[in-house]
Amino acid sequence: MLNLKKLKFKTPDFKTLAAVGIVVCASMVAMPPARAQSAVEETYKAKCIACHAFDGSATAVGKKLGAHDFRSPEVQKMTDQELIEITAKGKAKMPAYENSLKPEEIKQLVDHVRELAKPANGPSAMYRSRGYLARESR
Ligand code: HEC
Repeated sequence: MLNLKKLKFKTPDFKTLAAVGIVVCASMVAMPPARAQSAVEETYKAKCIACHAFDGSATAVGKKLGAHDFRSPEVQKMTDQELIEITAKGKAKMPAYENSLKPEEIKQLVDHVRELAKPANGPSAMYRSRGYLARESR
């Protein structure tokens, strides 16, 4: 006969199992699905939303510094080259990113700025569905 007492592990009691279960479920709810964010969205979130806001509308801080709503005609009428230039070299209170981002990343960020201006691809589609709209707009 198999003697359970000789085995080195203890059968976990109900409390332990429940605690593990809660932690596993909570982390599944809290974590967005693996492919929730593309690299460019990650970069935008990490480096740009402090001033430009998750939806490009510009935060209070950003507005104070002079940032414009990315979705406004005045920003959208600028060429990609101009937007790339501003992101790379900076402008007035806008920091320069040419030393911390690759040209390719800056190009993708400018594409992202364009995407934000499209209502169908704006925060509603990209962010709300992923559940971090509420978190970012506190
Ligand atoms: C410290 C605040 C701050 C951060 C962080 C910041 N910006 Fe800006 N950004 C500004 C300000 C202020 C302007 C307006 C500059 C001007 O025209 O005087 C601006 C302008 C811009 C513009 C031109 C359109 C406009 O609103 O005038 C683009 C494009 C832009 N930023 C992209 C980015 C990207 C991409 C990032 C992240 C990599 C970023 N910015 C991070 C402050 C910021």
